Amino acid sequence: MTLAIIGGTGLTQINGLTITGQQSLETPFGPPSADFVFGKLHGKQLIFLARHGNPHRIPPHKINYRANIWGLKQLGVTEVIAVAAVGGIGPEMAPAKIAVPTQIIDYSYGREHTFFADDLEHVTHIDFTEPYTPALRQRIIQAAENAAIEIVTRGTYGCTQGPRLETVAEIKRMTQDGCDLVGMTGMPEAGLARELDMAYANISVVANWGAGIVDGEITMTEIERNLHVGMSNAIELLKAISLLAD
Ligand code: HPA
Repeated sequence: MTLAIIGGTGLTQINGLTITGQQSLETPFGPPSADFVFGKLHGKQLIFLARHGNPHRIPPHKINYRANIWGLKQLGVTEVIAVAAVGGIGPEMAPAKIAVPTQIIDYSYGREHTFFADDLEHVTHIDFTEPYTPALRQRIIQAAENAAIEIVTRGTYGCTQGPRLETVAEIKRMTQDGCDLVGMTGMPEAGLARELDMAYANISVVANWGAGIVDGEITMTEIERNLHVGMSNAIELLKAISLLAD
């Protein structure tokens, strides 16, 4: 098993990762977001990729999701844990909380979302009933329990196009649809990982309440403050996951 962590906003690098190497890769789909970083966390080998580049400069709708996932596959990765900043919609999803979602609704558009487009021998429809690999989710939940890190163990992640945040009406619609979390990078990443037969799970860190859930505008100051707390807990969770690795 080779584990990769894809870090989102607020997680451009993992403090505590002992870096052992770095590699840039070309793919048939163009360049990935950044160099792949090889390192050890609690003595366990992993590969880290900064989804928005390092420094953080690629907006969600411009990320080359295909190159990122293809590159990880080429490096022998079998399991991907995707860390992402999100807005909270469901009542348990308060700012600075961590959730491990179970389901996805994809509201994004115009993104290159499949490897199965050209030169096909036959049309393939991947199963996506459970978009996040149950066994990998279970490992994250077990690690959180071991390390006494409080997490929400369910939730539906709604993926919007960004880079703007949502309107009050959009969040109301997403609430009616059953979304608990709103983010901009969950798709097509999860679907692409499934197409290449890699286990994939998501750790969502809540940066703010979704638009209109509490009064007032959403500020970058608020987002940064909550991510500071949430991402340092997420790093503790990643360390606990490393401890579980064989
Ligand atoms: N909406 C979408 N993506 C986000 C948000 C949000 O409110 N906060 C952090 N990422």
